[in-house]
Amino acid sequence: MIELQNVAMSYGGSELLSEMTLKLVPGSFHFLTGPSGAGKTTFLKLCYAELLPSAGHLALFGRDVRGLGRDDIAGLRQKIGVVHQDCQFLDHLPVAENVALPLSVAHRPVDPAELRELLGWVGLKTQAGALPPQLSGGERQRAALARAVMMSPDVILADEPTGNLDWEMSLRLLSLLVELNKMGKTVVIATHDLNLIRTAKSQVAARVLRIANRRLQLAGADL
Ligand SMILES: Nc1ncnc2c1ncn2[C@@H]1O[C@H](COP(=O)(O)OP(=O)(O)OP(=O)(O)O)[C@@H](O)[C@H]1O
Ligand SMILES: [Mg+2]
Repeated sequence: MIELQNVAMSYGGSELLSEMTLKLVPGSFHFLTGPSGAGKTTFLKLCYAELLPSAGHLALFGRDVRGLGRDDIAGLRQKIGVVHQDCQFLDHLPVAENVALPLSVAHRPVDPAELRELLGWVGLKTQAGALPPQLSGGERQRAALARAVMMSPDVILADEPTGNLDWEMSLRLLSLLVELNKMGKTVVIATHDLNLIRTAKSQVAARVLRIANRRLQLAGADL
């Protein structure tokens, strides 16, 4: 569903990422690691066509991103849920409305029962009416995950979803992502946290991608 062939990416200067070839198949679970500044967020942005490759071929759901117009990209994005590294919300809107925002933006009706169920799934039922600044870091991350799955995407891309969380909350976030994967969704998680990766490997058939020396490598089983 996400296929890269010899993809390179640069922001104008020299190449940040080179010669990336990879196929993310439906139902797979990947971690993405690499040092700060290696290009993890950039890689994820390619995966949801926020950025276009500077060279090579990138296909999303079988369609080359180069031939896509704005409406095509908007359509594809509905199949991809993103948890951004700096999860931002509209601070004047309650949590429930923020979570439902992808539907409102797509002019699709919001089913209140479904929204309640989703908030319950991430453990934010009682915070539904709170404003985002009133949430803790872990609550914000869970709200961001709920927002990412609001459109029932096939793929979830999570950029450091446990970045500022304590271990217990990281595990909780991880278990939600594992649950989504068990429902058949493709999951990619960018993280520095090797303990999280080790823990996940006991729960799910996760593979580890590592960005090193501008290349994307599939890490061995040595983690
Ligand atoms: N819009 C941009 N324009 C120019 N350079 C950028 C842009 N976005 C990112 N970069 C640069 O590209 C490099 C990779 O950034 P990226 O955010 O992809 O790294 P990362 O692996 O996600 O890092 P971190 O672990 O700190 O989140 C960095 O050197 C960054 O400064
Ligand atoms: Mg990043």
